[in-house]
Amino acid sequence: MIRLSRFRFLRQFLLGVLSLVCVLTFAACGSTPSADSGASNVLKVATEPAFPPFESQAAGGGLEGFDIDLMNAIGEAAGLTIEFESLPFDGIIPALQAGTVDAAISAMTITAERSQTVSFSRPYFKAGLAIAVRENETGLTSLDSLKGKRIAVQIGTTGAETAKQVEGAQVRTFDSAPLALQELANGNVDAVINDAPVTLYAINSGNIAGLKVADDQLLTEEFYGIALPKDSPNVEKVNTALGTIISNGKYAEIYKKWFNAAPPTLPEAAPL
Ligand code: ARG
Repeated sequence: MIRLSRFRFLRQFLLGVLSLVCVLTFAACGSTPSADSGASNVLKVATEPAFPPFESQAAGGGLEGFDIDLMNAIGEAAGLTIEFESLPFDGIIPALQAGTVDAAISAMTITAERSQTVSFSRPYFKAGLAIAVRENETGLTSLDSLKGKRIAVQIGTTGAETAKQVEGAQVRTFDSAPLALQELANGNVDAVINDAPVTLYAINSGNIAGLKVADDQLLTEEFYGIALPKDSPNVEKVNTALGTIISNGKYAEIYKKWFNAAPPTLPEAAPL
């Protein structure tokens, strides 16, 4: 009796040790690789993809545009895998603050106000705002002439900020720039204030008919930057990679592809 139970005890004990070893081995082998490799090399990048030629939905699915090519080239130079996530434009800064995305490239103007809540890369594009009106319009040629008029803008943009400062203007906000331009083409507003390269692209590509830019002169000079959570360690990686592709010709190649021109020289920092 006693012998038997000792034998049983020993057997139970050995089985117990064996299964513990198995569990530990499995846990070690199973968890180590997936916890550390991979994840830290992925950069989740937000964009609002209705802003061609900077970002738009490609015909076959996926995204395309100057910003998309640029971000992928930056990822390549920095050894980061870029994963894009589409967000409404006015949701991008909150997402960066909440840390649900690692960066954003969305033709976003570097402004003093935004710089209080997010960090920007060095400028990667020089742009500015323009007024769009219907082709037969002759009276509306400047910000001043828009007093008391109906102006359509994309929500959360510098165009929206500028429109708000026009005395007596009724500002109508839309989720995307194409929707604001369509409202103008339909005759429901008098003007759109939007980034000049995007408005010109919409007109010249025939995406929207019957519109023109009101004046040759831009309302503002703005520089686009890649936005990151405040003081993110990725700011330096992105800036270094951007510097690399500007000096090795990759930036110029992407610029030529989308704007059919040589890029202007960019300042090291945006004048705010
Ligand atoms: N440059 C303007 C701004 O920063 C408009 C950007 C809109 N971008 C977009 N992807 N819809 O406010």
